[in-house]
Amino acid sequence: SRRIALVPAAGHGSRFGSATPKQYLLLDSRPLLAHTLDVLCRCASIGRVAVVISPGDEWFDSFDWPQPKLEVLRVGGPSRAESVAGGLAALAADADDWVLVHDAARCCLSPDALQRLLDEVGDDAIGGLLAQPVADTVKRASPQGRVAATVPRDGLWLAQTPQMFRAGLLAEALQDAANPAITDEASAIELLGHAPRLVEGEAQNFKVTWPQDLVLAAAILAAR
Ligand code: CTP
Ligand code: MG
Repeated sequence: SRRIALVPAAGHGSRFGSATPKQYLLLDSRPLLAHTLDVLCRCASIGRVAVVISPGDEWFDSFDWPQPKLEVLRVGGPSRAESVAGGLAALAADADDWVLVHDAARCCLSPDALQRLLDEVGDDAIGGLLAQPVADTVKRASPQGRVAATVPRDGLWLAQTPQMFRAGLLAEALQDAANPAITDEASAIELLGHAPRLVEGEAQNFKVTWPQDLVLAAAILAAR
C-alpha cells in the first residue's frame, strides 16, 4: 500500500482576518503553504502530495510551486471535511492506500513527528493521528462567563494533523462530510465505531489561526 498526503487548503482564514487567506501569506518570502508542503514532499515514504484548493482560488497560480510530487485538486468545499472528502474522491487511491490528511495551516510540522506517526500507525488496523496531552488546567464555562467546573485533564488530548487512515475507510467515514460533528478525520472514523490511535505530536505543530501565530511560525522555521 502506498502513502499519500492530502492537504486541505481551501479555507478563508476568517479568524486570521487578512484579505489574503493565511495559507498564502509570505513566511521567509514563500507562501506559508509551501513550507507545509515541503516537509511532506521531502519524506521519502510519501509518494504523492495532493493539495486541495477552492475552485475559485485567486492566489495559488500566482506562485511557483517547485515541490516535486505535488498535485493540485481544485475541489475545495464549504467546510474542511467537505474539502477533504472532495480531495479524497479526486485522488483515485486504492482502498488500502494510507492517506495522511494534514492542515495547510500547520506549517511547522517537524520531520521527526511525521516519521513517528508513520512508524507508530504503519501497521495499525484503524489508523491514527498526532495529538498532544492537554497541559493547561481546563475550565467549563457557565453562560454568564464564570467557571462552572474544573474538568480533570487526565486523558484529554488536543488533536493535531497529520491524521492517517486507509483511503477506503476514510471515504466511508466521510460519506456525510457535511455532518457538523465531523471536525477532523478521526471524529469521522469514531462515528463508525472505531478508535484511532493517538501518537505524541509536538507544540511546534500548531495551527496558524490568529495573526500573532505568524510571528511564532516564522521564528520556528528560521531556527531550522
Ligand atoms: N480548510 C479547507 N476547506 C474549508 C475550510 C478549511 O480546506 N472549507 C482548510 C484550511 O485551509 C486549513 C485547514 O482546513 O488549512 C484547517 O482549517 P482552519 O485552520 O480552520 O482554516 P480556515 O477555515 O481557513 O480558518 P477559519 O476557521 O479561521 O476561517
Ligand atoms: Mg476553519
